[in-house]
Amino acid sequence: DDCRGLGVGAALMQRALAVAKARGHGAVILLGDAPYYARFGFTAAKTGELSLPGAFERDRLLGLELVEGALDGAWGMITPAGAPLLPKRPLLKTKASRSRKAPLAVPHAA
Ligand SMILES: CC(C)(COP(=O)(O)OP(=O)(O)OC[C@H]1O[C@@H](n2cnc3c(N)ncnc32)[C@H](O)[C@@H]1OP(=O)(O)O)[C@@H](O)C(=O)NCCC(=O)NCCS
Repeated sequence: DDCRGLGVGAALMQRALAVAKARGHGAVILLGDAPYYARFGFTAAKTGELSLPGAFERDRLLGLELVEGALDGAWGMITPAGAPLLPKRPLLKTKASRSRKAPLAVPHAA
């Protein structure tokens, strides 16, 4: 709570939008409070025909076009399509992961 209102949220958003644009994305979609995200240009104007796999509040599904018209006629289920950020398995087998079946506590030698 101490850090609210310092502009951290806005700075993170501006950075994320700049990176998304630089990577060639046409639009950004999020679930959030419209009164907050409106300041960045997000609206529900073109998300009415989009849906998510689970339950969600329709008025919180917001979109922002990075390329004009990118969300024109957008419809259907939103599903993950990008590469996962983190690998699902460790990249290297560590000593700990190899010996997972070994006893956790080794008795002291007398
Ligand atoms: C929303 C949140 C990310 C903003 O982070 P922050 O670093 O305080 O944001 P900023 O400093 O850039 O902006 C603060 C401004 O946003 C406004 N604001 C914060 N939450 C808001 C909301 N839910 N609706 C409308 N305005 C909101 C503040 O009143 C303040 O307004 P001001 O610029 O007129 O003074 C942060 O308050 C937070 O994590 N809130 C709890 C979770 C949440 O509500 N997430 C958004 C929905 S998923």
